[in-house]
Amino acid sequence: MRLRLASPFCLVAVTMICQGCDQSTAIVPDATPAVAVTTTQAAATTPDSAASVEPTTPAASVKAAAPASSASEPVLLGTPELTAGIPGEGPLTTAQIQAWLDDPKNHEILQIELPLGLNAGIDQVKGLEANPLTRAKIELGRQLYFDTRLAKDTAIACAGCHDPEQGYAAHTQFGVGIEKLTGNRNSPTAYNRILSDVQFWDGRAGTLEEQAKGPIANPIEMGNTHDACVTYLGAIPGYKLQFAKIFREEGLTIDTVAKAIASFERAIVTGPSPYDYNEQLRLFAEQDLESLKEDDPDTYALYEKALADAEAHPMDDSAKRGRELFFGQKANCTACHVGPNLADEKYHNLGVGMAVEKPDLGRFEVTKVETDKGAFKTPTIRNVEQTAPYMHDGSQQTLEEVVEWYNKGGHPNPYLDKDVRKLDLTDQEKQDLVAFMKACTGPLPKVETERLPQ
Ligand code: HEC
Ligand code: HEC
Repeated sequence: MRLRLASPFCLVAVTMICQGCDQSTAIVPDATPAVAVTTTQAAATTPDSAASVEPTTPAASVKAAAPASSASEPVLLGTPELTAGIPGEGPLTTAQIQAWLDDPKNHEILQIELPLGLNAGIDQVKGLEANPLTRAKIELGRQLYFDTRLAKDTAIACAGCHDPEQGYAAHTQFGVGIEKLTGNRNSPTAYNRILSDVQFWDGRAGTLEEQAKGPIANPIEMGNTHDACVTYLGAIPGYKLQFAKIFREEGLTIDTVAKAIASFERAIVTGPSPYDYNEQLRLFAEQDLESLKEDDPDTYALYEKALADAEAHPMDDSAKRGRELFFGQKANCTACHVGPNLADEKYHNLGVGMAVEKPDLGRFEVTKVETDKGAFKTPTIRNVEQTAPYMHDGSQQTLEEVVEWYNKGGHPNPYLDKDVRKLDLTDQEKQDLVAFMKACTGPLPKVETERLPQ
C-alpha cells in the first residue's frame, strides 16, 4: 500500500493511521501548510521499515511568524495550563489581569505540537500565520467564550451551545439561543477546529475567525449587534486592559474579539484515544521482535512503550473488529471519515433530512452547484460518543441509529453520495462499529469556565 502524503513531515503519523487499512484510497486530505512547519525530530523514515520511525515522538511542530519573539520550546496543545485561566482564586481582579499581562512569557508566540493521533495533521493546521497563538490571547478567548455578556440581554455564551460538559456541542436537536429561539441545525463540536479552515455544516465561513463573529449578531443565537457587543466589552476594565495590550495596533474591535475566541478554540483538541494508542502498536505488527531487540534496542524500547500504552488504554475485540470494518471495504466509513481528525473536510449527501418537501439544501446554499444539494460537511468521529444527537439536523439520537442509517444505504434521493450504499452488516458488525467509534474518545483539556473580568 502506498500513501499519498500531504507533506513529508507527517510521514510518521500518517503511517500510523493507515497502517493495516486495506484501502488504497486512504489519504490525508490535501492541505497547503498555512504556516511554516519545522521538524523537531528528523522524521527518519525509510518507507518500508515501519520500525525505524519514532511513533511516540510528535512528528513535527508548527512555528508561526515572527520567530524573534517565539518561545523556543514547543507547547503541546491540550496541556491544561493553556486553558486554566489567569492564576488565582475567586473573582478575577484587575490586579491579577495586570500582573498576567506584564509577564512577557504570556505574549510569546507559541510553537505548537498536537497530541498523539492528531499530530498526523500538523501540516494541516490552519490560521496561525494570520493569527498567531499566545498564552494571553488563548486566555482572553477563553473568557469571551464563557461570557454571556457578548449576547443581547447577557443571555447566552458560546458555551451555551458548545458546552465542554457536552463534548463542546449541545445535547439538544437544534442550537437553543436567546429567548429559547432555535434554528434548524444541530450544534457541531468546537474542538479540533485548528485542523479546519472552513466552518459550519455547509462550510460558509472561510476561517474560524469569520465563524466566531457570526453567532454574536445572529438573531436566533446571541441576538446582539457587533457594535453593541464591542461597546459593552469596552466598558469592562479587565477586557479593556487585555485588548489594549494583546492587540496593540487594532485594539478592541469585533475582529479582535473573533481572533481571541478562535485562538481559544484552537487550543481545544482531543487527546490520544485507545484507537491512537493501538495504532502505534500496529507499526510493529510485522516486525521480528526478537531480532529487533538485539539489533536495535532503541526502537525496541519504543515498541515496549507502545505496548504499555496500548495495554493501559485497551480496545476490546469488538472495537478492534470495528476498526477493520471502519477502514475496510465492507463498511468503508473511511471513504469520508479519513485523516487525523477522521473527517475529509468535504461535503456529502447521505439523504439525512431529504424526505421532507423543502429540505435544508446545505452546501448548495453556498455554491449553487446542483450536485451539492443536501450535502453537509463530514463531521469528526473523534469523541463523537460525547456529542449526541447526530447529523446536521440532530435527527439521530444514538450511534446505533447512525450505523442503521448507513446500513440501509441512507435515504434515496437524486444527490445521494456514491459511497453511501446498503451494507448488509450483521448485528455483531453494527455493534463493532459503535464500539470502535467509542474507542476514538480521548481526554479533552481541563478548562476554567469562570474567572471572567468584572
Ligand atoms: C444558539 C446556539 C449557539 C450559540 C450561542 C453559538 N453557536 Fe456555534 N453553532 C451553533 C450551530 C447550530 C452551528 C451550526 C450552524 C450551521 O452549520 O449552519 C454552529 C457552528 C459553530 C462552529 C462550526 C463548527 C464546524 O465544525 O463547522 C463553530 C466553530 C462555532 N459554532 C463556534 C461558536 C462560537 C465561538 C460561539 C460564540 C461566539 C458560538 N458558536 C455560539 C450553535 C450556536
Ligand atoms: C459518503 C461519505 C460518508 C461515508 C461513507 C460515511 N460518512 Fe459518516 N458522515 C458523513 C457526513 C457528510 C455526515 C453528516 C451528514 C449530515 O449531517 O447530513 C456524517 C455523519 C456521521 C456521524 C454523525 C456525527 C455527528 O457529529 O453528527 C457519525 C457517527 C458517522 N457519520 C459515522 C459513520 C460510520 C460509522 C460510517 C461507516 C458505516 C460512515 N459514517 C460513513 C459522511 C460519510
